[in-house]
Amino acid sequence: MSSASRVLNPALRSKIMSADEAAALIPSGVNVGMSGFTGSGYPKLVPAALARHINERNAAGEKFRIGVWTGASTAPELDGALASVDGVEMRLPYQSDPTCRKRINAGEMEYIDIHLSHVAQFVWFGHLGKLDIAVVEVAGIREDGSLIPCSSIGNNKTWLDQADKIILEVNSWQNLQLEGMHDIYYGTQLPPNRLPIPIVGPGDRIGEAYYRCDPSKVIAVVETNAPDRNTPFTPPDADSKRIAGHIIEFLEHEVKKGRLPANLLPLQSGVGNIANAVMAGLADSPFEHLTAYTEVLQDGMLELIKSGKMDFASATAFSLSPTALADLNAHLADFRQKILLRPQEISNHPEVIRRLGIIAMNGMIEADIYGNVNSTHVMGSAIMNGIGGSGDFARNAYLSMFMTPSVAKGGAISCIVPMVSHVDHTEHDVQVIVTEQGLADLRGLSPKQRAREVIEKCSHPDFKPMLQDYYERALREASGRQTPHILDEALSWHSRYLKTGSMR
Ligand code: COA
Repeated sequence: MSSASRVLNPALRSKIMSADEAAALIPSGVNVGMSGFTGSGYPKLVPAALARHINERNAAGEKFRIGVWTGASTAPELDGALASVDGVEMRLPYQSDPTCRKRINAGEMEYIDIHLSHVAQFVWFGHLGKLDIAVVEVAGIREDGSLIPCSSIGNNKTWLDQADKIILEVNSWQNLQLEGMHDIYYGTQLPPNRLPIPIVGPGDRIGEAYYRCDPSKVIAVVETNAPDRNTPFTPPDADSKRIAGHIIEFLEHEVKKGRLPANLLPLQSGVGNIANAVMAGLADSPFEHLTAYTEVLQDGMLELIKSGKMDFASATAFSLSPTALADLNAHLADFRQKILLRPQEISNHPEVIRRLGIIAMNGMIEADIYGNVNSTHVMGSAIMNGIGGSGDFARNAYLSMFMTPSVAKGGAISCIVPMVSHVDHTEHDVQVIVTEQGLADLRGLSPKQRAREVIEKCSHPDFKPMLQDYYERALREASGRQTPHILDEALSWHSRYLKTGSMR
């Protein structure tokens, strides 16, 4: 045992080995549940060792591939390493790795994009097949064999419970002061025996601080000391600031109208720079005593907590820049009173989201004039990342907003189109669409009223006349007047872009 070992359980201490030795215990053809959510808490060494192993075996003429299940996106050391050696047969759920994305879009890797709240229950239901091995990063192993969670929870509880065999990475880089910030709920049952999830406020604790772990399933323990993928956010640009401004003005209006309390309702904020910019915008807003019931805790939200604007945030993972991480570590004792990490089946639970009345704000690729939203596919066929938790929140939220700059790729693409090239969120799940041009409030509007609002408020001036022209002609020519479309033309903007490099 090394001097700083965090493996306190004697039985598990006897299973400490190198990453290469541990990786050699993973055979071809198995499904492996890996920890990791938005760049935090993923295993740092075993996946790369496995990738080397796979590469050698494939060079020797084998076809060595595994199924990789995670919480959400991970990092180059996991998704990148395994994808680069063509070692992944099936990947699920959310990913955002460039190598992985390339393989998927080249048709070399199967990918199932699942609502993040569905993953754990699908495994319990048996819908995804057998989970053979769990590879889970933890901050430490306690004397009694229970595990101290680290910077993300994701699906770890389910992986540890459902896998036949477990490999643990104990990462001494993870701050041990995170201990106690986690709430692992062990009360989920299978239908027809399910009971209500007893959360009535973002700060409610309903579970335990540690993962339970059957020591007899543990086949390897690997000690590591390696950082999470903490990537910096770009400072909010002018468009992001405008989007944030429209949202804050809208929320102020809703408070004035009595449709929201003065401290709003618990916020959910999606991934990426725009979401982060909205949080930064809230820092300068009049709102106080905010709360969050969200999936990922990014820099902007940490800043709100630090400044006293936000009282409490519940999430399943941190996704912080190096600077924000340093801040978190420096003040962890304070932050621990105000932040809780939960399994993603609970952070994204439709029942809880509906009960708490979440204000959901997520990024998108494109929206159409009727309010359908595409969060995942470029030009209808190529995956960008995945749906993540956006569907969990959008369908069940008190208010569901989607945001994007009005154009992409230097203005060649309009993010407001006649018909989305892929649908993740239907018109029924989308209440507000926001671009830097403005905010379309679609509540209580029919499809035709929505189209006028979306074109007027959200489209870029370069594309507005084209959208107006399409809509007016559709109104005259469509076979029905409920949701007027010219079917031969509805996706012509996308095909024009693919042929000419521009939607114009
Ligand atoms: N057509 C083609 N490409 C488009 C596009 C469009 N309409 N709109 C954006 N893009 C491209 C951008 O050009 C950019 O490409 P690049 O990486 O080559 O520069 C990329 O998509 C990302 O766009 P960006 O404007 O930087 O947005 P973002 O970082 O805010 O991400 C999503 C937007 C939709 C990709 C991201 O929010 C996402 O993956 N969402 C789905 C999951 C989700 O909502 N999770 C949160 C739930 S808690």
